Amino acid sequence: METRLFDRTHLTEAVKLLKKGEVVAFPTETVYGLGGDATNFEAVQKIFAAKGRPGDNPLISHVCHATQVEDYAEKISEKAYQLMDAFWPGPLTLILTAKKGKIASNVTAGLPTVSFRMPDNPLALELIKRVGKPLAAPSANTSGKPSPTTAAHVLHDLKGKISGIVDGGPATVGLESTVLDMTHPRGPVILRPGAITREQLEAIIGSVLQPVGLHLDTTVPKAPGMKYKHYSPKEPVYIVSKKGIGWEKAIAHFQSMGEHIGLLASDLVLARFCADGIDSYSLGPKPDATEASKHLYSGLRFFEQTNATIILAEELDDGEAGLAFMNRLEKAADLKRI
Ligand code: TXA
Ligand code: MG
Repeated sequence: METRLFDRTHLTEAVKLLKKGEVVAFPTETVYGLGGDATNFEAVQKIFAAKGRPGDNPLISHVCHATQVEDYAEKISEKAYQLMDAFWPGPLTLILTAKKGKIASNVTAGLPTVSFRMPDNPLALELIKRVGKPLAAPSANTSGKPSPTTAAHVLHDLKGKISGIVDGGPATVGLESTVLDMTHPRGPVILRPGAITREQLEAIIGSVLQPVGLHLDTTVPKAPGMKYKHYSPKEPVYIVSKKGIGWEKAIAHFQSMGEHIGLLASDLVLARFCADGIDSYSLGPKPDATEASKHLYSGLRFFEQTNATIILAEELDDGEAGLAFMNRLEKAADLKRI
């Protein structure tokens, strides 16, 4: 299959393909999504096939207006409306109760719930508006690869497997949205941390549950996607812990074992430890989680193209703003620290 590249002046072609039930990748502020008509079972099948995604992992439906959700979800609480009002368009996904028979059954993987997000990207919003249906879209990577933050990443993974890619430049957030379950009897639960933090959510609706650690509290429902290994590059990743042996010793240790090192860190660290035979990728000028989030996935992909056999990555503060960054980095590292 030919994968066509579209820019903002060629959206009409992308709209036509989506209306015909084809799949097209599009930019959002978090990561690129692989979109298909969320009411068309066959279109959604193509999304799962192109990514090699397990069928029991549900997809987020992307809308261009909060009221669009009402056609597909029911029992929408006052709190859910307040959150849409405060954070949409933006990196917040809400899990709501599905209306029966409205969204294609493979979007929800047969669950009674359905998830929605309104992306903060003008091209995404225009596509959704012109298609006239919500677009089901997981991240537009091959399953198991880091999510794509540029059109080039999507092309690398899915060339020949999808009908098109709308190029809207690099994603401005760089990590996937916060996923908030609004259907749990104990109250709203964060299933995946993202750029919208618990603090921000609580400022609008009061108490929000946030299970700690990679492995969520077993007493709340998990996002089915959490059980799959995500975001892992080929090379082992070690987090260089602030309380550990430090950069100098960590580098010496792995070099003595014959490893070719890739440094994934802020410029402050790179300036001190870059040397011949070491590859490097910058997470930004200084240690800052918001900035580093924009570069994490490109960095992990970058090292797949270099001779690095091991990646050493900088630990950042995992306070409110850094939680999503450290969550993704810990997954990539399988929690390995030095
Ligand atoms: O920022 C994002 O959220 C990006 C962009 C493209 O919007 N999308 C994204 O989709 O990250 P995906 O499929 O890679 O991750 C969606 C996550 C998965 O962990 C999935 O299991 C969970 O959301 N999810 C979706 N619908 C759900 C539901 N009804 N119940 C529980 N978890 C759900
Ligand atoms: Mg994904």
